[in-house]
Amino acid sequence: MGPAHVLTDADLRAPFESDWTRRFGGPCSMVVRPASTREVASVLGACTARETPVVVQGGNTGLVGGGVPPAATDGTAPVLLSTVRLDHLGSVDLAASQITVGAGVTLARLQGAAGEAGLSFPVDLAARDSATVGGMIATNAGGLHVMRYGPMRAQIVGLEAVLGDGLVVSRLSGLVKDNTGYDLSQLLVGSEGTLAVITAARLRLVPAHPERVVALLGLPDTAAAVAVVDSVRRRVEGLQAAEIFYHDGLEVVLEHAGLAAPFGRPWAVYLLLECAGLTDPSGPLYEALAGLDVSDDGSAVAADRAGIERLWAYRERHTEAVSALGIPHKLDVTLPQARLAEFETAVRSVVSATASGSRLVLFGHVGDGNLHVNVVGPPPEDEAVDEAVLRLVASMGGSISAEHGIGRAKAGWLNLSRSPSELAVMRAVKQALDPAGSLNPGVLFAPRHITG
Ligand code: FAD
Ligand code: MLT
Ligand code: ZN
Repeated sequence: MGPAHVLTDADLRAPFESDWTRRFGGPCSMVVRPASTREVASVLGACTARETPVVVQGGNTGLVGGGVPPAATDGTAPVLLSTVRLDHLGSVDLAASQITVGAGVTLARLQGAAGEAGLSFPVDLAARDSATVGGMIATNAGGLHVMRYGPMRAQIVGLEAVLGDGLVVSRLSGLVKDNTGYDLSQLLVGSEGTLAVITAARLRLVPAHPERVVALLGLPDTAAAVAVVDSVRRRVEGLQAAEIFYHDGLEVVLEHAGLAAPFGRPWAVYLLLECAGLTDPSGPLYEALAGLDVSDDGSAVAADRAGIERLWAYRERHTEAVSALGIPHKLDVTLPQARLAEFETAVRSVVSATASGSRLVLFGHVGDGNLHVNVVGPPPEDEAVDEAVLRLVASMGGSISAEHGIGRAKAGWLNLSRSPSELAVMRAVKQALDPAGSLNPGVLFAPRHITG
């Protein structure tokens, strides 16, 4: 790779050694930045031969500490393999509506390339300028359009990846129908860097929908928001986002971002709906909302770019606004849709009982039953509130990770969402693909599971 791409100096390593939240991180011996699949294979082969652990990192926007070294290593400090130079952007295959890209390509670049071809990449999230395709595949990122297009998993036609010992496996032919045994590409989706380093991906693209409309609604409670989503989902074909946030979180955003309040009066709950299509989708949306109990002083609609961005800012700027309050405990969970309102009430009391005096900010993708529970106050290493919230989620039939993954943050509680037999199969897969255990040790699987 050349010395310019092997960083050993502490100052140069530092940005790679701490995660976006500032809650996770630790030292690595060096950062290596391979620019080709062959270079990745040679790094991994060398590290495995020397029993040196490897931490894989893309854009470092992950929120569960999976892309940074552990705080303290009781053995060899890991090598950090950064994928940012795997940034080859192929040309759009119009006949197939597909594109092949390097794992280090950012989401924004991918979206730009798709847009220039009159198509669109279906996954979108606020970290688009830094998050990489490889990181999004490794975490099975969700984002803002899952209710219409599914998560990252649904966009994968095939992958190229390198196993811990340097073996390259490649499936980039772009064949949509290809039933020839185990789907190795899908096995790597959501594997969080524990099975292989993804080096390239063949992705599906969808038609661009230039006509958009966004509605922001003020509502009395979570149950009302869930009811509106349920009704609109059944009536409006182009519904692609249904996002929720709350009065207390909005106050934090308004202060942090210097924005004006959306309405003349506060509401307990805010619901943002976005529809898009080849033709103007506002008619069907208005019709669907007309039959519902939506108040005039709690609704705003935008169909122009500036107006749409203004309404989205109230939702999208939550992450940075929460981080400005302090180092957050970020718990990304899904609940059965029917229990979301009950969970909102319960999580508020669980957090105030376990972390009194802390700030709780809830927001998320209500269309997917996905709430982001952000708690600011307890020290980063204090896991009491994490444990209490995750146990509450499990007790209500939810998942302890909706879209951010398990990482290091939740590895100790994986057994709350996975049965002993599932865990045994997962460990067997890890053993088969990475027998030396060099890839991302401590991510996804904790040395010991917290029981109960
Ligand atoms: P990293 O943070 O670098 O790594 C994440 C994980 O993937 C690590 O375990 C790492 O080891 C592994 N990994 C990275 N690259 C590879 C590779 N090439 N091969 C194998 N393993 C790899 N997430 C959502 O799902 N939905 C959202 O709406 C969303 N919004 C966000 C908004 C903000 C402001 C921020 C900061 C984050 C948000 N995220 C969201 C989280 C984050 O952007 C995603 O998890 C994203 O997929 C991470 O991509 P990355 O390239 O930054 O990966
Ligand atoms: C979001 O939906 O905004 C992201 O998942 C980021 C976060 O949870 O803060
Ligand atoms: Zn999210």
